[in-house]
Amino acid sequence: MEQYVMKGGRPLCGEVVIGGAKNASLGVLAAAVMTDGECLIENMPDVRDTNVMLQAIEGIGGVVERIDEHTVKISGRSICRENTVVDGEYIRKIRASYYLLGALLGKYKRAIVALPGGCDIGSRPIDQHIKGFTALGAKVDIGHGMITAVAENLHGAHIYMDVVSVGATINVMMAAALADGNTIIENAAKEPHIVDVANFLNSMGANIKGAGTDVIRIRGVEQFHDSEYAIIPDQIEAGTFMAAAAATGGDITVKNVIPKHLEAISAKLAEMGCTIHEYDDSVRVDARNRRLTSTQIKTLPYPGFPTDMQPQMAITLALAEGTSVITESIFENRFKYVDELTRMGAKIQVEGNTAIITGVEKYTGADIVAPDLRAGAALVIAGLAAEGYTTVDSIQYIQRGYERFEEKLQALGANISLVDSDRSLQKFKLQVV
Ligand code: EPZ
Repeated sequence: MEQYVMKGGRPLCGEVVIGGAKNASLGVLAAAVMTDGECLIENMPDVRDTNVMLQAIEGIGGVVERIDEHTVKISGRSICRENTVVDGEYIRKIRASYYLLGALLGKYKRAIVALPGGCDIGSRPIDQHIKGFTALGAKVDIGHGMITAVAENLHGAHIYMDVVSVGATINVMMAAALADGNTIIENAAKEPHIVDVANFLNSMGANIKGAGTDVIRIRGVEQFHDSEYAIIPDQIEAGTFMAAAAATGGDITVKNVIPKHLEAISAKLAEMGCTIHEYDDSVRVDARNRRLTSTQIKTLPYPGFPTDMQPQMAITLALAEGTSVITESIFENRFKYVDELTRMGAKIQVEGNTAIITGVEKYTGADIVAPDLRAGAALVIAGLAAEGYTTVDSIQYIQRGYERFEEKLQALGANISLVDSDRSLQKFKLQVV
């Protein structure tokens, strides 16, 4: 079984190039099957979740051509309406499989997709997706672990989302883009990947306005055409390395980013005492030679503080001077890493959706387990900040969303290795003393 082993205590310094956004890619890849033409998609991260999505597209008869590690050509021409069933053990593991619902429903007016899995970070209902599809004229049923959405014809509708949902906004936007007439989505999510998926749909001929605001207006079109598109940089991968600079007392420049997408993270790190330099397409976080101080964080939909950065900030705040409070208002089950971090010496008390963190001077290395994607990445950073050796198990979660994580960390000076046997673990410990 693969695990990370590391010896912490070194400030991470240098530059790291950020890849394409995983969560934008998942929407874009699904949307690519909506044209009978060809889509060339660049800057796609080569991570487990995107590879599962590509597998799902092939599973329904789509043609996927890997041009290089980060470029893929997709054609949905050979998908037929009768074959719009997305199932399989692999597809149940990723949440974003449900984007194929919106994409296939929009194009073929029929989609049957296995109920989504994904990280266990909360109950994750899909009522808003169903509400949106139903308003567009689809009949939606759930049974035998599958969601079925079928329509004679999709028509535009005025839809008010009861909760701000990234997934429901993207799904309904995709289906509405090929519906008859006009759709308005109110209380839409505004995350950068909503804008990216809308831009991609527009590049195929859709008519979507207002993505990135609360109100998205869609004028349905009959069909889409070929497109060439590059995915935006990953806000959360960038934020994770920014937190790594802060937690290890290092100095990291994240390159190939959109600094505006990182504002909430930059602002919190500055409040804690980091020096932040923003450039056109990079951000530098300098946390050398100082003890960071406590702050308060509440996760909120964009442009608020992202829930996907909550664990990385918690492991940083747990080393800062004073008492910090983190309120998680998006997913109720996102403090599962706290028990592991406590084993490394952190002092965190969780009450409901709030974590009260009393800063400690240092962590000590331990054998820990990644509970989900972002918490897993956060625990690796904790290990790199800790005194002594740490191993992190269940790294398949981390590999869902971080490409060559250990290599990027090594390039910043981290003593970390991916090992797959006790022998290689011992070898690492002998080499890195
Ligand atoms: C997306 O999940 C991301 N996943 C998540 O990233 C991210 O944490 C989340 O958005 C919030 O930013 C992908 O893009 C693939 P939501 P999603 O629908 O779409 C409630 C990561 O680490 N809700 O915006 O599933 C829901 O329970 C992952 O990369 C309903 O009540 O999130 C939650 O409280 C993890 N009914 C809130 O809305 C619905 O129908 C936001 O969820 C849908 C959602």
